[in-house]
Amino acid sequence: MSDAMTNSPRPRAALEADGAPSPAEAPEAGRSANESAGLAEPDGLDHLRSAAEDLVATHRIAALPGEKPPLPRVLAIANQKGGVGKTTTAVNLGAALAELGYRVLVVDLDPQGNATTGLGVNARNLDTSIYDVILHDVPIEDCIEPTNLRNLFLVPATIDLAGAEIELVPAFSREMRLRRAIGTVLSDFDFLLIDCPPSLGLLTVNALAAAQEVAVPIQCEYYALEGLGQLLNNIERVRANLNPDLNVSTIIMTMYDARTRLAEQVVDEVRRHFGDRVCRSVVPRTVRLSEAPSFGQPIVVFDPSSRGATAYRELAKEVSGGAPQRVG
Ligand SMILES: Nc1ncnc2c1ncn2[C@@H]1O[C@H](COP(=O)(O)OP(=O)(O)OP(=O)(O)O)[C@@H](O)[C@H]1O
Ligand SMILES: [Mg+2]
Repeated sequence: MSDAMTNSPRPRAALEADGAPSPAEAPEAGRSANESAGLAEPDGLDHLRSAAEDLVATHRIAALPGEKPPLPRVLAIANQKGGVGKTTTAVNLGAALAELGYRVLVVDLDPQGNATTGLGVNARNLDTSIYDVILHDVPIEDCIEPTNLRNLFLVPATIDLAGAEIELVPAFSREMRLRRAIGTVLSDFDFLLIDCPPSLGLLTVNALAAAQEVAVPIQCEYYALEGLGQLLNNIERVRANLNPDLNVSTIIMTMYDARTRLAEQVVDEVRRHFGDRVCRSVVPRTVRLSEAPSFGQPIVVFDPSSRGATAYRELAKEVSGGAPQRVG
C-alpha cells in the first residue's frame, strides 16, 4: 500500500482573521497552485461542496447504527493530512473520557511520538515502546505507562517506529500486528484510542485493522476534505480484506475559529453531507490547546476551565454516549 504523505494546506483568510497565530498557524511552504487559486475566493465553497458530494457518491459510507457500540471500543484517529488535530484529539478526548471514569488507553502509533510527549512521558526513559510490540512481539502490557490522570494510560512511541513502515514489509501478518497485540489488554479498558501518523502506510493500516471505528479529525478550513477520498479508499480496502466491521463512526471538526465565516460554512457543509457522524461539539482554535503539550498535560489538567477543555469534555460525552463504565 502506498505511503501517500500529504501535508495540510491552510486558508489564508482564516489566518489573517486570527489575531495571534499559534504554532498550528505557521505559514507553510509548498502550497499548491490549486490552493493559491482558492485564496482569491475564500467565500466560494464550490470546491469543498463538490469534494463532499464526490466523497458521498463514491464511497460506501454505511448508515450509522442508532446506538453506540458496546465497550470496549477501539477507535483509530486517522487522517493522512498532517496537522489536523489527530494527536490533540487522541490526548484530550482520551483525558476527558478518563475524567468521566472510563479506563482509557492511548496508543501512540506515530514515530513523531507527539501523544507520548503530550501525555508527559519522556521517550528517552523507556525500555520498550509500541515499536517492540509491533516488530518484536513484546506483549503490549509490558509497555503501558500511567499518566498524570487517573484512568488514562499510554502505549508510547519512540523514533524507532520510523523504521517500522519498512521493517514491516517482509513481516508475517504485517497488517494484523497491532490487532493481535491489543487482544490481551482489551478487557482492561473501556476505550482504546490509536493516534495514527499522517500517512496511509502500514502503521495506519495496522490501526485500521485493529479498530472497530475510525474517528476522523477535520480542520475547519477551505481544503478540509482534500485527501479524505484516499483515506476512505484505504478504509474500504481494509474493510474488504482485513476488518469487515470497520466503521467511520466519528468526524470531529477541529480548530474552529468563530471569527471567520469560512469556519462556520465549512462545518455546515461537512454536516450537510456527513450527517450524524459529525460530532455536535466542535473544537475551537485556542492557543491553550497548542500550549498544553509542551507541559506534558492534557487540556483538562493544564487549563480545566478553558474553552478547549470544555469542548473535549463535551466531545467525550458525545462519543461515549453515556455508556456505563465497564471496568473500574
Ligand atoms: N484546537 C486547536 N487550537 C489550536 N491549536 C491546535 C488545536 N488543535 C491542534 N492544535 C495545534 O496544531 C498542531 C497540529 O495538531 P496535532 O499535532 O494534534 O495534529 P496531528 O494531526 O496529530 O498532526 P500530525 O499529522 O503531524 O500527527 C499542534 O501544534 C497542535 O498543538
Ligand atoms: Mg499527530
